[in-house]
Amino acid sequence: MTNHEIIAIDASRLEEILAIETLSFGSPWSSAAFEGEFSQPHSFTYGVVSTTDHKLLGYIVFWLVEDEVHILNLAVHPAFRREGLANALLTHLVDLSQKAMCRMVFLEVRPSNRPALGLYESFGFVRVGIRPNYYTDTKEDALLYTLFMEDDNEY
Ligand SMILES: CC(C)(COP(=O)(O)OP(=O)(O)OC[C@H]1O[C@@H](n2cnc3c(N)ncnc32)[C@H](O)[C@@H]1OP(=O)(O)O)[C@@H](O)C(=O)NCCC(=O)NCCS
Repeated sequence: MTNHEIIAIDASRLEEILAIETLSFGSPWSSAAFEGEFSQPHSFTYGVVSTTDHKLLGYIVFWLVEDEVHILNLAVHPAFRREGLANALLTHLVDLSQKAMCRMVFLEVRPSNRPALGLYESFGFVRVGIRPNYYTDTKEDALLYTLFMEDDNEY
């Protein structure tokens, strides 16, 4: 496994983020979309970087609003997948969410995205609903997945 660490990242990593984003999604976020997130006080971006050369290997973007965390984006460079890096990013996010006394973490995912579904289910996220026609590019529905913190199972 690649030696790595999780760090908070800002716009200075934008080029590296966009390279991974373009390799990871058919409809990637634009540079402006990431810049918009960096300018929002409730939006956080963490990256997983190599401890040898400090290159960005993956990232997660999420909102923390009151007691809820909403994951907006998560990607790992294709050359470093299946090495536990998304697992490391999500573990970091869950730790932060627990420290912030959050009630739940939620996200939307494409039903066709088997790797992402496998990842979220391995963390205990459960399917709580569907957002019809959520993805504008394919008109695919989104599955709404939630990780309930502690014993609070009300949504
Ligand atoms: C989804 C994604 C972030 C996973 O990143 P990753 O670093 O390869 O994931 P990890 O190595 O940490 O895998 C953790 C677990 O997720 C699941 N998983 C990951 N890739 C999988 C795959 N291709 N098929 C099935 N399950 C998979 C497994 O349970 C895995 O544990 P295991 O390797 O012990 O079996 C990566 O595939 C990616 O960037 N995809 C493109 C972007 C994307 O779809 N983002 C999510 C949007 S909702």
